[in-house]
Amino acid sequence: MRTIWLAADGSAVEIIDQTRLPHGFAIARLETLADAAHAIRAMLVRGAPLIGATAAWGLWLALCRDATDAALAQAHATLLATRPTAVNLRWALDRVRARVAPLPATERAAAARGLAIAMCDEDVALNRGIASAGLPLIRAIAARKRPDERVNILTHCNAGWLAAVDVGTATAPIYAAHDAGLAVHVWVDETRPRNQGASLTAWELLNHGVPHTVIADNAGGHLMQHGHVDLVIVGTDRTTATGDVANKIGTYLKALAAHDNGVPFYVAAPSPSIDWTLHDGRREIPIEERGAEELAQITGRLADGTVASVSVLPAGSAAANPAFDVTPARLVTGLITERGVCSATAEGLRTLFPGHASK
Ligand code: MRU
Repeated sequence: MRTIWLAADGSAVEIIDQTRLPHGFAIARLETLADAAHAIRAMLVRGAPLIGATAAWGLWLALCRDATDAALAQAHATLLATRPTAVNLRWALDRVRARVAPLPATERAAAARGLAIAMCDEDVALNRGIASAGLPLIRAIAARKRPDERVNILTHCNAGWLAAVDVGTATAPIYAAHDAGLAVHVWVDETRPRNQGASLTAWELLNHGVPHTVIADNAGGHLMQHGHVDLVIVGTDRTTATGDVANKIGTYLKALAAHDNGVPFYVAAPSPSIDWTLHDGRREIPIEERGAEELAQITGRLADGTVASVSVLPAGSAAANPAFDVTPARLVTGLITERGVCSATAEGLRTLFPGHASK
């Protein structure tokens, strides 16, 4: 199944409500622009490619009700304001707007629906490209192993099929390797504060039958020091034209540890996640600050099966919650794109995407 699709009655969009995983599985129906904006802001959907796909569908929902220039501009602005870091959001909104704006109002909704469907299919194709490009990296490590050894891959947050329309980005080469019969094992960072690793990546890998172990966010460096990590693959919310990578908070620390231990650190970067206008990620990429309650409370399943949130901070302590960080290009071994693997440099990206000269 996919993470987002047109409802069977053709009048709404349906999504997997990711706030319910892994303890429950629920489909949510988005009928209005406000529903789509809420789904992104409240993280019923999340992950850079899926944020973009939901935004494209959100414009369609808005245009179904009002296809005037003013409504289009307002819907674009509303959706753009939902989350700041993933560039896929702006990319998707600009693309749909560019397609529908020249059309008469009567034709806009149908055109937006057609493009949203195409963009979802395209996302899956891009991720399959990442799978093909990244598989040889895992195969090369497997070839150096003894027959009884596994390739140990560490990942952070969730850059799996739940973060995209399907397949995922960082997980794409992992699923491809597993499906090809290579012995892989994934170290899954729990990824505080929202626990996308423990809740979503582990759920995905479990359902796909990929051997994996959830670890505390702080365990990665130790595992690398002891030779238990062969490779790190993470996703990205925004990669600059020079190869700096914004991803879930804590990614930078993994890159530092990987660098110190000689562990290859790859970023799965589909082209819609590349911001060709930026050249200095640390200064230029907007970092989302989320609410302190995400840090203060943990949601889990109690022994009686009910799902509940509990507080883990002393009442009265302040909490800060920057949701992303920037890994400088010098710490990135390579970018795995749908067109192949390149160095995290302007030259590397230009070689693969010659039409996208940085601006
Ligand atoms: O806050 P989230 O859950 O939207 O953050 C998601 C990530 O950081 C992912 O690694 C990134 O979006 C890449 S998804 C293919």
